[in-house]
Amino acid sequence: MTQDELKQAVAQAALRQIPQDQIIGVGTGSTVNFFIDALATIKHKVRGAVSSSERSTERLKAHGIAVLDLNDVDRIPVYVDGADEIDASGAMIKGGGGALTREKIIAEAADRFVCIVDASKLVSTLGKFPLPVEVVPMARELVARRLRALGGDPRLRKDYLTDNGNIILDVHGLTISRPRELETSINQIPGVVTVGLFAHRGADVALVGTPGGVQEHAY
Ligand code: A5P
Repeated sequence: MTQDELKQAVAQAALRQIPQDQIIGVGTGSTVNFFIDALATIKHKVRGAVSSSERSTERLKAHGIAVLDLNDVDRIPVYVDGADEIDASGAMIKGGGGALTREKIIAEAADRFVCIVDASKLVSTLGKFPLPVEVVPMARELVARRLRALGGDPRLRKDYLTDNGNIILDVHGLTISRPRELETSINQIPGVVTVGLFAHRGADVALVGTPGGVQEHAY
């Protein structure tokens, strides 16, 4: 099976996690794109979606799925999103696609985080994938110095601004043995908008695409 076929399989499997007549939280990325396409086939069963990026919003709307403002929604039973890495506790690195801030907001607002990944995203220790950190532009060097002090090698994502008008520092060279502690430390640096470590609010369940079928891991 190709990686795209694995992503498609988990996207399809995620439909079984979708409650009827509710607002669904929708993440961002190539795996989520397959999920949005799958969601379109049952769109009459959902009330609409809250979206984590302009890209996902566009795709949802193109399928005729209503996109609501988070401020107008009182309950999101399920949030479906991909990850760049996920460990055995359900902690994740996210933000490879740059949408980490809105993803973290919706994940926090949702009752349940369903992570959809192919098996290449499973890791024993987070950090091989460079950790994205969204930063207010004027704080770039200050934040970079603090990230170096934490043992990382921050690199500016070139020619890139987030949907919120901020920059991203991708932090290479980290071995994240204590994801919760590192998430808290990076959140303390003034100028950091969001760190792409999702440890305090990790996944509740991961649907993992393998050549042998979709595995379900609960955390
Ligand atoms: C988007 O900002 C990310 O958090 C994505 O969820 C993550 O990068 C996974 O994307 P893919 O499904 O494209 O691998």
